Amino acid sequence: MTRIAVAGALGRMGTTIGRIVNEAPDLELVGGVDLAEGTLFGEEVVPAARIDAFLKEKRPDILIDFTVAAAAVENIKAAAGNNVALVVGTTGFSPEQREVIRGAVEGNVPAVISSNFSVGVNIFWKLVREAARQLGDYDIEVTEAHHRYKKDAPSGTAKTILEILDQELGNREKVYGRVGLAERKEGEIGVHAIRGGDIVGDHSVLFAGNFECIEISHRAYDRAVFAQGAVRAARWVVGKEPRIYSMQEVLGL
Ligand SMILES: NC(=O)c1ccc[n+]([C@@H]2O[C@H](COP(=O)([O-])OP(=O)(O)OC[C@H]3O[C@@H](n4cnc5c(N)ncnc54)[C@H](O)[C@@H]3O)[C@@H](O)[C@H]2O)c1
Repeated sequence: MTRIAVAGALGRMGTTIGRIVNEAPDLELVGGVDLAEGTLFGEEVVPAARIDAFLKEKRPDILIDFTVAAAAVENIKAAAGNNVALVVGTTGFSPEQREVIRGAVEGNVPAVISSNFSVGVNIFWKLVREAARQLGDYDIEVTEAHHRYKKDAPSGTAKTILEILDQELGNREKVYGRVGLAERKEGEIGVHAIRGGDIVGDHSVLFAGNFECIEISHRAYDRAVFAQGAVRAARWVVGKEPRIYSMQEVLGL
């Protein structure tokens, strides 16, 4: 049985992951950490300040982290220090935080880190890359929509889209929303974040040329799609070499 702990155990993603792990015959849920104490499907959730003692006592094989960026960095350091493999879905890391994570993980534990664990989004990223290769001279606009509680903007998935576009087209200027005199400049990429209701996660990339447009889009209907992907990554990461992996590698794309 693979032992799994969840950081952000009382959150939207943490609870969904807890349910999927709890129902899986090959996985054992050993509890989690969050800001406050609580329970996750009968297992103990302890305050994150006690994560080190929690990992030493529960000895999980994997910590799945869906929290907030600053918290995730600390949880990753604690897991790496206790030889616990990682699946990290938290978004909103700064470049400096990414470096700290790399330093903690490389050579110590295997970690799958992805801004989006859905199979569909990982295919969508491939399609966006292909379109960018063919349509680099079209005007490009990236739009994402999420629920009213989402903390970071633009979404981690949208940032990954921008990285893919930069890899294919060079570093282009990004314009985040437009207001007033904001005529489009050649080559710029518009980025738009919509927040409202309980939208799980929509992403779209528009390539607009003269006389035609092509729009590639993905819509998630339930966050279980991210949770299932994270659990798939958890099964995959056990026993891998100690470095950072992408969800594309998990899926063999
Ligand atoms: N990669 C993906 O596929 C994917 C999918 C959905 C959401 N996300 C990301 O996952 C993260 C969580 O999303 P959510 O919708 O579950 O948010 P949420 O706010 O519902 O849950 C986050 C949880 O983390 C807890 N938390 C805060 N600080 C903590 C700390 N120091 N230690 C432990 N727990 C702490 C909060 O109390 C909360 O329970 C966000 O960064 C979001 O962007 C990623």
